[in-house]
Amino acid sequence: MAEFDYLIVGAGLFGATFAHLARKAGKKCLVIDRRNHIGGNTFCENQGGINVHVYGAHIFHTNDKPIWDFVNSFTEFNRYTNSPVALHEGKLYNLPFNMNTFYQLWGVTTPEQAQAKIAEQIASLNITEPQNLEEQALTLVGTDIYEKLIKGYTEKQWGRKATELPAFIIKRLPVRFTFDNNYFNDKYQGIPIGGYNKITEGMLEGTEVRLDTDYFSDRAYFDGLADRVVFTGPLDEFYNFQFGELEYRSLRFEHETHEVENYQGNAVVNYTEAHVPFTRIIEHKHFEFGKQPHTIITREYPDTWTKGKEAYYPINDEENTRRMKQYQELAAQETNVLFGGRLAEYRYYDMHQVIGSAFVKAKQELGVDLVQS
Ligand code: FDA
Repeated sequence: MAEFDYLIVGAGLFGATFAHLARKAGKKCLVIDRRNHIGGNTFCENQGGINVHVYGAHIFHTNDKPIWDFVNSFTEFNRYTNSPVALHEGKLYNLPFNMNTFYQLWGVTTPEQAQAKIAEQIASLNITEPQNLEEQALTLVGTDIYEKLIKGYTEKQWGRKATELPAFIIKRLPVRFTFDNNYFNDKYQGIPIGGYNKITEGMLEGTEVRLDTDYFSDRAYFDGLADRVVFTGPLDEFYNFQFGELEYRSLRFEHETHEVENYQGNAVVNYTEAHVPFTRIIEHKHFEFGKQPHTIITREYPDTWTKGKEAYYPINDEENTRRMKQYQELAAQETNVLFGGRLAEYRYYDMHQVIGSAFVKAKQELGVDLVQS
């Protein structure tokens, strides 16, 4: 018999949620992570009392009460509501597109006036079947919103012209005819008081964790430690990239400390002009209503991904989807390995979704629902 019931590769939200539930089921787990910290991409680094979201801004939101109760069982959440603003040619616009934005764009004061303005712009375009992302967005929101708030931002994000991007990337663009700057529609939203690490630390309490430990440094050794493996790393790497790499879009972050209490007045400011090389500036203290005399900001630059860089957004185009299916066929034949999380499933998951997926997989695997108990 092996020393552990489960070897869990990856201490991100999927691995930590699974470890927590498995421990509750009486299983002995070993969690390893090749980074020098737990939490995966939710990891926060405390710098002078400010929790810096090291891998990009993370705002928790969900409609699912059991998931909300679960994360709140590790730490309380604050009342943070995500209401980003966009800066274009020196003017600020509220997001998501709502009556405040329409007032700022056109001076309209009623929903009827705003709807008429958008409808008039869409009608003048004469686009019947959108052939690319640009045409798709134009037919959804008209010229002004597209040109000022979508075009430059999207082109920077993808590193390609909007006319060269497929229409399906944008299925719908939320437009609200109320004065409501809350970015998310979900019932529950907030930032964990004390930062996200409180959650993953709580989940992993009582479980052995080894950091700076790469599964691939000695796969046979790690496999020998446990009866079963939960793998949350990249699926292509698990199979030694035999069908080629699954590609991602990456990000580069530039952090800066400023000796001022308040740099931009909001946690998130988007820069929607094409000539500004970054997409947004995050001011971390505003996630937690910080009152420190200094502040830390992060400029977020979209980046081409190459092996060795952090993998952020999967590129779910035809070629990558085909490759992913080949890998999934191999994964389906594994009898001793459970794959989970954003890297092993090669898909974008929000935090509540990855926790929800870990709930489902843990229940199937452990044969018991331990979320509520
Ligand atoms: P995650 O990547 O966090 O964890 C996997 C872990 O496995 C990593 O720690 C890695 O080091 C480890 N690992 C991989 N291979 C290994 C190996 N060979 N050996 C050992 N360890 C290995 N969601 C949301 O709800 N609200 C938000 O605001 C945001 N914001 C956001 C911003 C940005 C820029 C991104 C890219 C993503 C978000 N998210 C988000 C999504 C959120 O980050 C995501 O849902 C979770 O981090 C996914 O958790 P996982 O455990 O799947 O992966």
